[in-house]
Amino acid sequence: MNKMDNESTRPRPVSNGMEKIVSLAKRRGFIYPGSEIYGGLSGFWDYGPLGIALKRNIENLWWRTFVEDRDDMYGVDAAIIMHREAWKASGHVGGFSDPMVECKKCKRRFRLPVASATQAGADQGGEKCPECGGSFGDVRQFNMMFKTHVGATEDESSVSYLRPETAGGIFVNFKNIVDSFHPKLPFGIAQIGKAFRNEIAPRDFVFRTREFGQMEIEYFVRPDEWERWFVTWREEVFMFFDSIGIARDSIHESEIGHGDRAHYSKRTIDFEFDFPFGRKELCGLAYRTDFDLRAHAKTSGVELSVVIDDATGEKIVPHVIEPSFGVDRAIFALLVSAYTEDELNGEVRTYLKFNPAVAPIKAAVFPLLKNKPELVAKAREIYTGLKKTVPQILWDDNGNIGKRYRRQDEIGTPVCITVDFQTLEDDTVTVRDRDTGKQERVQISGLERQIGVK
Ligand code: GAP
Repeated sequence: MNKMDNESTRPRPVSNGMEKIVSLAKRRGFIYPGSEIYGGLSGFWDYGPLGIALKRNIENLWWRTFVEDRDDMYGVDAAIIMHREAWKASGHVGGFSDPMVECKKCKRRFRLPVASATQAGADQGGEKCPECGGSFGDVRQFNMMFKTHVGATEDESSVSYLRPETAGGIFVNFKNIVDSFHPKLPFGIAQIGKAFRNEIAPRDFVFRTREFGQMEIEYFVRPDEWERWFVTWREEVFMFFDSIGIARDSIHESEIGHGDRAHYSKRTIDFEFDFPFGRKELCGLAYRTDFDLRAHAKTSGVELSVVIDDATGEKIVPHVIEPSFGVDRAIFALLVSAYTEDELNGEVRTYLKFNPAVAPIKAAVFPLLKNKPELVAKAREIYTGLKKTVPQILWDDNGNIGKRYRRQDEIGTPVCITVDFQTLEDDTVTVRDRDTGKQERVQISGLERQIGVK
């Protein structure tokens, strides 16, 4: 391998400004405002081609790590709309609410504590409406579940809800999993899917939205072993984030006090991340005791227990440790972690330093010149061959080579492969590394290894 001409990089102080990330996400096809041509819909975002590729990569890695690579985990994909009694049993109909105030003058509603207009997102307390300066009415509780009706009749008997957490679909399938697979404790049930919350104040890009993805595990354990498993899952959370490129030292644990925990939890740790607007929850770990299984058993009249001694048939209601990951917050944290600015050959450049495992595009293939049919044909041949083993590969022949590099840098493509005249002579190509800008000549036969699939 010969060293080729290399671009020289100089790190610049990085500004992880929110606007830069939101703008890059839109410009390059990661995340768009929902219903944008109608002026948008607050709290809803759409994923574009690169965003969905990034999301799938994260979800697939999560599923692989926590379901496929283990023997104690069972996956489910439950319906989003469940029997309304399930949400009464879980306490969500009665208690899944946020405190809210309404401005007496402009009638706008705010979640407490009210963020001031100038410090939106800073969670500052305020007694006046940040929009019009009017005074507030009494504090009221606002239930965040989206209500709907099942069937043609729209009355109280047909009311149901879009799930506010994927966990609900796991608990109602506990008996199915036990009956089908007879698992021994400890074991877990995992689910990836959408959750819906009619947030009073959605904000901060995909941080607080009304429709979002969750990746959740309910891990069932013997009651006297919960502390041990809580510690184990705490470590698993860090390891997973590390594996997708969110460094351990950028995540901060916050022990949630008694009064601030969800109604079902006896212990909760929030894992917080330094988002551009402040340090906020990225994911959570909760000890839900036997609250949910007992509540569902009582309301449904169906026993929810597991045999712990085959000889005697002794059964218990297991306790639960719940690691709960938000898909969109993980994507946001990943974009923040990956966003890098430096100087390359004296020019400022922006790139996303994605771990290749999550990068939406693993490699891009270019012919050096678009108007040389022999180069284009050779590059096409290489591209088509690689695409069989590396589906997340891109063809680019637009603009000059420098522009192509910048485009790929901005979407975080780890390597760019260029086919030039030497390729036609000796079956080598140049492979340029995103982070260093360095290029080396590589045999075509070694490309899969270079991209990391062999
Ligand atoms: N089953 C437990 C549960 O749902 P949570 O702390 O309410 O706990 C878990 O939510 C995770 O879901 C959060 O850590 C966050 O990543 C994500 N999440 C919650 N509400 C969200 C919202 N409105 N927008 C985006 N993500 C959200």
